[in-house]
Amino acid sequence: MDICPDLGALRARLARAGRIGFVPTMGNLHEGHLALARQARAEADCVVASIFVNRLQFGPNEDFDRYPRTFAADCQAFEAAGVDVIFAPDEPVLYPEAQTYRVQAPSLADELEGAFRPGFFGGVCTVVLKLFNAVQPQLAVFGKKDRQQLEVIRGMVRQFNLPIDIVAGETVRAPDGLALSSRNGYLSAAERAEAARLNRVLRQTGKALRASQANYPEIEAAAMRELASAGWAPDYVAVRKNDGLQWPPATGPVRGEHYVVLGAARLGSTRLIDNVDVFVED
Ligand code: PAF
Repeated sequence: MDICPDLGALRARLARAGRIGFVPTMGNLHEGHLALARQARAEADCVVASIFVNRLQFGPNEDFDRYPRTFAADCQAFEAAGVDVIFAPDEPVLYPEAQTYRVQAPSLADELEGAFRPGFFGGVCTVVLKLFNAVQPQLAVFGKKDRQQLEVIRGMVRQFNLPIDIVAGETVRAPDGLALSSRNGYLSAAERAEAARLNRVLRQTGKALRASQANYPEIEAAAMRELASAGWAPDYVAVRKNDGLQWPPATGPVRGEHYVVLGAARLGSTRLIDNVDVFVED
């Protein structure tokens, strides 16, 4: 496995690399990231992973400085997962001057996560576009755990005609259902024991949806109440259509269609997000 710290080294390494599969990360890897790398491995000749903590997507009160940097362990883990090349630029390599040109994310980026993290998706799209330009992959794998990010990136690739297949990686979960996340490391032992509730609550909401409950505000509010009564500070629980994360029909979920229940809530000082797919059977 090669580690490329700059664009020159990366381009030289990737000349004649064949079909490139790309996994962008901010490091601090867990099994979820490694599953994305293995998925890229199965579909590409050359797997490139990036490790870059992108300042542009952190708000002023977010955890950019305390975001764990675990580079040596990340390299070992990526190598074991079959990654061929790690692109690990320092900030001045990716942002040699102030990044005054930005990708303007669509209105979906102002909802759900975007309503609580203003500027987040603009920062994500901007760095992902720069990383795509650097790596020039044929396919890129993004986890379904960050469901809205996946949707926003898909839209960017479509609207900018980028010749890249965006592949969705399934969320990897702990045995109790907690979605693996770099932020789980911030949880105390007591919080970790509680943390799987978020997934349980989202699955219950999915059950209500499958039972054709059309009063979305009520089932969303019931989920938020359950989280709050267990000591969480919920930001949102929301039912959306799978396709484009559009609002579901006001008349109720349509049989034979796919929906997603998304949620974000703070447990102590740690903000967790998760989502579950819901198929409303005929
Ligand atoms: O999902 C992430 O880790 C980040 O948002 C990404 C896609 C690597 C961009 O910084």
